[in-house]
Amino acid sequence: MSEDGLSESQFSYVRHLRLDKLLDVMECITDHPEERLFLTAHHALEIWFKQVIFDTRRLIALLEDDRIAEANRLLRRLGEIMRLADGHWTVLETLASPDFHEFRPELTGASGMQSRQFREVEVMYGLCELADEGYVESVRQRWPGLIEEHPVTLRGAFFGALRRAGLDLIDAYRDRREHPALFDLCENAFELDRRFQSWRFNHILMVRRQIGMRTRGTGGTFGKDYLAASMRHLFFPELWEIRHDISKLHGAEVAGDGAAGSA
Ligand code: HEM
Repeated sequence: MSEDGLSESQFSYVRHLRLDKLLDVMECITDHPEERLFLTAHHALEIWFKQVIFDTRRLIALLEDDRIAEANRLLRRLGEIMRLADGHWTVLETLASPDFHEFRPELTGASGMQSRQFREVEVMYGLCELADEGYVESVRQRWPGLIEEHPVTLRGAFFGALRRAGLDLIDAYRDRREHPALFDLCENAFELDRRFQSWRFNHILMVRRQIGMRTRGTGGTFGKDYLAASMRHLFFPELWEIRHDISKLHGAEVAGDGAAGSA
């Protein structure tokens, strides 16, 4: 038995997981029984964001070393984590809108848009290379130094690996049997992007259910403007666009060029 009356194995479990600290900080700020779910979902997603940042750093290093098989394994994991993250929205939807409104005023200006880890994931994946100047400027202002912390992004590392292998995207798809690992890399990167889109979309559906898109968010924006606009953020628009090139290769009729990322 340890000092606090726990058996040795229980003690190790608590100590390894630092449950004393972790569970201690999960404190509700109101007496409303439904606030607990709201808090838990936020904590769970922040814990996963931490894992995503950790593994994305490893993934970028693997790609820079051309260790494609190992990179594929991590890319698939990141996709699975995003799928799990996506599952949180339907759980949160079991919170009834009027219940949410009973404790929402106490949240004052707290909003998920202030999540540094979420923004770090976007920066690490390479969104600043694609998004408009307004987005980049807002990241610079709110989190000075964040962009500079990630001089090599997942996008940069991905396209670097393809370049060193002497492949354009279309080669990776057309000649996929000659380069199966690089073809998998493309498809795993696409899948990660797709699941991120799904996460954004289902967050919006949940927001529509809870407060609607014309109600001002606790972060000060209207969902119909801010969240709706965030749907255009893709990390690999080229991997979505390539579907048209593949269609053309096979003689299918393709309508004129739209913006990258459009359906
Ligand atoms: C009832 C639950 C929730 C509602 C009603 C809600 C609503 C909103 C709204 C209206 C915004 C736009 C910014 C604003 O004005 O606040 C937003 C942004 C955001 N929310 Fe939520 N949210 C909820 C739960 C969550 C949870 C559990 C997370 C997990 C971390 C989260 C993560 C985010 C992120 C990362 C953004 C910024 C998205 C971006 O910049 O593209 N939200 N949310």
